[in-house]
Amino acid sequence: MIELSKMIGQGELREVYLHAEDKTLVIKIDMDPRSAVYSLREHSYFSSFIAGRAIATHFPKIFGMVETTRGPGLLEECIRDHDGTISRTLVESLRSGLIDYEAFESALDRLVRLAVRDGIMVRDFSPTNILIRRKDEDGAFDIVIIDGFGPERMNLKTRLRLAFTFLARQHSRKLWKQNLVFLHEKLSQVGGRR
Ligand SMILES: Nc1ncnc2c1ncn2[C@@H]1O[C@H](COP(=O)(O)OP(=O)(O)OP(=O)(O)O)[C@@H](O)[C@H]1O
Ligand SMILES: [Mg+2]
Repeated sequence: MIELSKMIGQGELREVYLHAEDKTLVIKIDMDPRSAVYSLREHSYFSSFIAGRAIATHFPKIFGMVETTRGPGLLEECIRDHDGTISRTLVESLRSGLIDYEAFESALDRLVRLAVRDGIMVRDFSPTNILIRRKDEDGAFDIVIIDGFGPERMNLKTRLRLAFTFLARQHSRKLWKQNLVFLHEKLSQVGGRR
């Protein structure tokens, strides 16, 4: 059974812990075990549609469910900067001037194009679900989406979209239009946009 170490983050549904023996990993524990279905879905969406594609640099690697001292948890890559620091959220990175807003917008533009091309579904593009992974001293970075991707419900429509790329692309284009409006609204509320 895997031991958990420090808690490094918390959302509405999950607590995020460092793996006690491997600092490259985090484990996400669902506070209500009934919502673990979303973590499971995240893993299966990652394995089938993200892993091995160009878009994968924008997501943590997800390894699956494991048993921990606090019950079942989702094992995934801990997103860290080039110097080993745990990557900061989008808002922290903008506020502290680690990245500038124009650079973020152009990186976002490239990410959205790639995601639509691959029909990738992101449902909750909140600033807290976005980390900025700094790749070197000169300011190169990746936008990394750590939560809120994959289908929300497993109904017939979803199954068709997962089976036919053209339907996935169509849906992805629509979702990304909404995501961008939502993100910009959130950023202007929290003052991340300068
Ligand atoms: N792979 C990761 N690497 C580093 N930090 C992470 C990682 N995943 C999550 N975090 C940190 O933990 C916080 C909560 O994680 P996450 O968004 O997965 O939880 P959640 O409960 O699903 O969120 P929500 O409230 O959006 O449902 C993030 O905002 C981030 O600061
Ligand atoms: Mg979250």
